[in-house]
Amino acid sequence: MESFVVKGEVSLTGAVKISGSKNAAVAVLPAVVLTKENVHLENLPDITDVRTMIEILENLGVSIRRRGRNALDLTSGNLSKIAPPYELVKKMRASYYFMGSLLARFGRAEVPIPGGCDLGPRPIDQHLKGFTALGADINIEHGMITLTADRLVGAHIYLDVVSIGATINLMLAASAAEGRTVLENVAKEPEIVDLANFLNAMGAKIRGAGTDVIRIDGVKSFTGVTHAIIPDRIEAGTFMMAAAATAGSVTVEDVIPKHLEAITAKLRETGATVRVEPERITVAVPQPLVASDLKTFPYPGFPTDLQPPGMVLLTAARGLSVITENVFDGRFNQVEELKRMGARIKVEGRTALIEGGNRLSGAPVTAHDLRSGASLIIAALMAEGDSTISAVEHIDRGYENLEQKFIGLGASIKRISDQASEKISKSPL
Ligand code: EPZ
Repeated sequence: MESFVVKGEVSLTGAVKISGSKNAAVAVLPAVVLTKENVHLENLPDITDVRTMIEILENLGVSIRRRGRNALDLTSGNLSKIAPPYELVKKMRASYYFMGSLLARFGRAEVPIPGGCDLGPRPIDQHLKGFTALGADINIEHGMITLTADRLVGAHIYLDVVSIGATINLMLAASAAEGRTVLENVAKEPEIVDLANFLNAMGAKIRGAGTDVIRIDGVKSFTGVTHAIIPDRIEAGTFMMAAAATAGSVTVEDVIPKHLEAITAKLRETGATVRVEPERITVAVPQPLVASDLKTFPYPGFPTDLQPPGMVLLTAARGLSVITENVFDGRFNQVEELKRMGARIKVEGRTALIEGGNRLSGAPVTAHDLRSGASLIIAALMAEGDSTISAVEHIDRGYENLEQKFIGLGASIKRISDQASEKISKSPL
């Protein structure tokens, strides 16, 4: 395991180029198995989750040629297997998208029950309900989900819960089903739209992505395609929050401002200034931040993945802020760590009360998941004194080159192995 040693009391200034979207990349990569022709992907983030996805694809028999750090050529001409290996699947929840894509290609898929972040219960009942509606038989035993369908037939499916994963999985399967599928009460995230654009460029017939209702007319075959992954709105929002929390001035480049409207609105509410240009956004803090309430919702609401950085921001805003986490049951993993840094936070169920305005103090803390880990970097930059953040492999899953990007904005962050960090955590900070 590795840790970050972070110097405190830094105001971030400068510009940072945002990488391709993790959550779009991990949806598009499983979809490449739908075609036997070559798929060329650009703007892939070089992160652990993408590397794991590539390993799974190679294990299935996909031939992959790297074209630079963020581009790949993939050909699924002769796939040999329909069961991604457990030791890879358990590393990331998004590997369950192979249920939809392998079912579409072969009418059969064997995928281990997914693992994932510790965010509370993460059922997949809506995925399975949709696959059944499309004509698949599902058998779950020994931790393995086996889906088989002699033929997939279009259906009218109403999701009980707005689920990104279920929307993606059912779009993948329905793309190859006979006839029309209507998916209602679906997720509207930009990553859904990016996948729909990718599938349509391969010959799929998908309409309505980005709205509550997606209509899909199944097709028999798919062609090759060239596709560039959209920018990562969660990475961009993380840096926008970091700029405001450290009273700095940061420009995030290569973004789609439309995807960041909820973050822009919330930052302005706290008193930050946000200048929006066609492909970049600049956040600055001309006066002390003021407390604001934050509620997470499916897109276009405030994203749950930015709730942890948002909480850190609100520890710097004078007054009492209330955060309501409406998407996950257990998404306050950062709270105990922030309290070790002196943050005044009280959690009641899905609600957190933050008494902001007091300077945090550097401390040894632990990243428990991807987004709470990233939020601890922001807290460490704001704090008085140094901090050591351990288990940074969680952060590496979804942020490309994060410490270099922060260093480029004036931070002092060192990545050290755990043996070295044990020495540090035993010595006074
Ligand atoms: C996606 O997870 C993202 N992951 C998550 O990002 C993100 O936090 C989440 O959407 C919500 O925005 C990827 O895109 C790879 P959901 P997903 O299905 O698809 C419930 C990150 O940090 N639900 O939209 O698993 C579920 O329990 C990660 O990048 C059911 O009840 O989330 C949750 O409460 C963390 N039944 C809510 O819906 C189901 O069948 C939303 O979950 C499916 C979901």
